[in-house]
Amino acid sequence: MRILVVGGGGREHAIIKKLRENPKAETIYALPGNGGIAADAVCVPVKATDIDGICAFAKEHQIDYAVVAPDDPLVLGCVDRLQELGIPCFGPEAKAAVIEGSKAFSKELMRKYGIPTAACEIFSDAASALAYVESCAIPVVVKADGLALGKGVIIAQTREEARDAVKTIMQDKKFGKSGDKVVIEEFLEGPEVSVLSFTDGKTIVPMISSMDHKRAGDGDTGLNTGGMGTVAPNPYYTEEAAERCMREIFLPTVAAMNAEGRTFKGCLYFGLMLTADGPKVIEYNCRFGDPETQVVLPLLESDLLEIMLAVTGERLAGTEVRFSGRHACCVVMASDGYPVKYAKGFEISIPEADASKVYVAGARLEDGKLLTDGGRVLGCVETADSLAEAVEKAYALVSRVHFDNEYYRHDIGSRALAARGEER
Ligand code: AMP
Ligand code: GLY
Repeated sequence: MRILVVGGGGREHAIIKKLRENPKAETIYALPGNGGIAADAVCVPVKATDIDGICAFAKEHQIDYAVVAPDDPLVLGCVDRLQELGIPCFGPEAKAAVIEGSKAFSKELMRKYGIPTAACEIFSDAASALAYVESCAIPVVVKADGLALGKGVIIAQTREEARDAVKTIMQDKKFGKSGDKVVIEEFLEGPEVSVLSFTDGKTIVPMISSMDHKRAGDGDTGLNTGGMGTVAPNPYYTEEAAERCMREIFLPTVAAMNAEGRTFKGCLYFGLMLTADGPKVIEYNCRFGDPETQVVLPLLESDLLEIMLAVTGERLAGTEVRFSGRHACCVVMASDGYPVKYAKGFEISIPEADASKVYVAGARLEDGKLLTDGGRVLGCVETADSLAEAVEKAYALVSRVHFDNEYYRHDIGSRALAARGEER
């Protein structure tokens, strides 16, 4: 099979490494991929948002199957366009990707179908939003409606911050058209859990749970980032929580999307908060999470390509999706200064024996050398029988990978270990 994977980050590297385990995956193209992915796939410099370019490439190279991984091409209708060319895809059509593409849509969906989430108000003009924040409970969470690289969420601790957040999103248009509408929602508290799932619109199969570390600094301080590290499984996600999420959130979401004529097929990601009132949805993503995928897929024992094909063919119910009982830890090595301002172009050294455990996100190849080329550069991933061992091994791996200007958190997994009553 000739497979095309759209995207070029650590998540795509994890997907490609896993797809390669199936001998049917003869050739894998990554559009655009990156300098590290080039070791595992043929990288072609077509941007993930260049839908015309992706379609032209797919047609010309007689692609048999396409996996569209990032949010933007999904929301832009990449799957719809490839399907029109007769190419089967893994990923939702645009009308279903809207579950991530518009927070106003997802909040209204949850309200209509009684799916537990933070109470909210939605505004399409700044004056009403500003009037609302004068009297709402504080802290409050202000969110741009559309995609904003995971940065369109502001947790306002004071009324002043809430006013500023509305102005930044709706008047200064910091996130462009994504800020035409704003969602202002209740501040929830409790441990956060990420659950990715496979669904073909008929069946939903949750993957192993994980825990992201979104803030830039140790002890969950500093700015929000795309994710500085992950562990799986998430110790807060007990069997009881899982059972309740299935009943109150996962199955109702699949049914709600079907009822709206927006059947979701692909990876549906649930960002959950386990509050004192039970689990609630913080956000939906229409795709695999990054860096969640880097810890979830290494624990998948079943064949990823077969599962994806079963999702596309609506045969998921009869397909094995088995995870090992082990633990995984991913420590992201970033460029110092991320997520604000950082230098690039430093040579990366990875011992050859470790290459299979390094998931590259922001790097390019130049004269045979791998150079840093982004904020998040790579993820060091290890699995082990215990969480403590996985964390220790991941940090040992970090100490063997080098580039100038490297920055990483030192406490990935600490919260999860504490929740298990263990220490590092
Ligand atoms: P999102 O991009 O929607 O996942 O939001 C980013 C982060 O903001 C989440 O991972 C949470 O930590 C936090 N957050 C979002 N919504 C809420 C909320 N209603 N209450 C508390 N924290 C929230
Ligand atoms: N790690 C969160 C996300 O992929 O959106």
